Amino acid sequence: MTPRRDRTVTEIEVVPAGVPGSTKSERVRAMFARIVPRYDLMNALMTGGLDRRWRDAAASAAVPAGRLALDVGAGTGDLAFALVRAGAARVVGVDFCEEMLVVARAKARALGLERVTSFIVADALKLPFPDRSFDCVTSAFLLRNVASLRDALAEMTRTLKPGGRLVCLEITHPPEPFASIFGLYFRHVIPLLGTLVTGEGAAYRYLPASLAPLPDARRLAMLLAEAGLADVSYRRLGLGTVALHVGTREDRATA
Ligand SMILES: C[S@@+](CC[C@H](N)C(=O)[O-])C[C@H]1O[C@@H](n2cnc3c(N)ncnc32)[C@H](O)[C@@H]1O
Repeated sequence: MTPRRDRTVTEIEVVPAGVPGSTKSERVRAMFARIVPRYDLMNALMTGGLDRRWRDAAASAAVPAGRLALDVGAGTGDLAFALVRAGAARVVGVDFCEEMLVVARAKARALGLERVTSFIVADALKLPFPDRSFDCVTSAFLLRNVASLRDALAEMTRTLKPGGRLVCLEITHPPEPFASIFGLYFRHVIPLLGTLVTGEGAAYRYLPASLAPLPDARRLAMLLAEAGLADVSYRRLGLGTVALHVGTREDRATA
């Protein structure tokens, strides 16, 4: 990964190394296109299978029963499928990496969910939907990867109906004493595992590095509030290594 100062002197952007592209978005997309064959397996190995439970928690926090849900940065579709399990009437998943969505669509067919899910190529920073389109909007492990956190939150809030919930699941800075232990795990074990399982060590060195510039859970909650969400709260999962943020769109949000 290459730390890069961009736009303002205080904003440090971490981008994946070893993949083509001149912007963070281009490189992130290229990186996910490369790791997609082993993406689900690596998630399960890195989290001891807990990632599925975390997505189930995110899905139920969105209160999707009978509703139209949008999952941003849908990847191989697991949060979209969790939303269906939680009762969503229909889920639209968007991602700017077509290769990830090919897997999501194949899984939807295998699960018999192709009628209630659709997966569309789109950029989280410019969602192709009118304002107030969805009853709930979710993302899982997206926020570290976007070129502008504020723009992503603004877009997700814009497409949410007033009264609807935005739910963001993401790796976070764990509190002590876990910070030191997980720092070692993130920086050493994950890159090694990633190299052995996917042959893409750079992608799994980018994973822990991309956490560094992400605001801590308290500050991220403030950014959700600044995007126009009310009743913002968060809870930690996975011994504090993952945060689940929830907010409700207020009427005044016009971003
Ligand atoms: C770590 S994966 C998470 C995938 C899925 N949500 C999950 O829980 O496994 C991040 C996903 O976000 C997508 N992504 C990153 N930046 C994006 C953007 N600006 N617009 C759309 N998708 C984006 C990547 O292509 C990738 O599929």
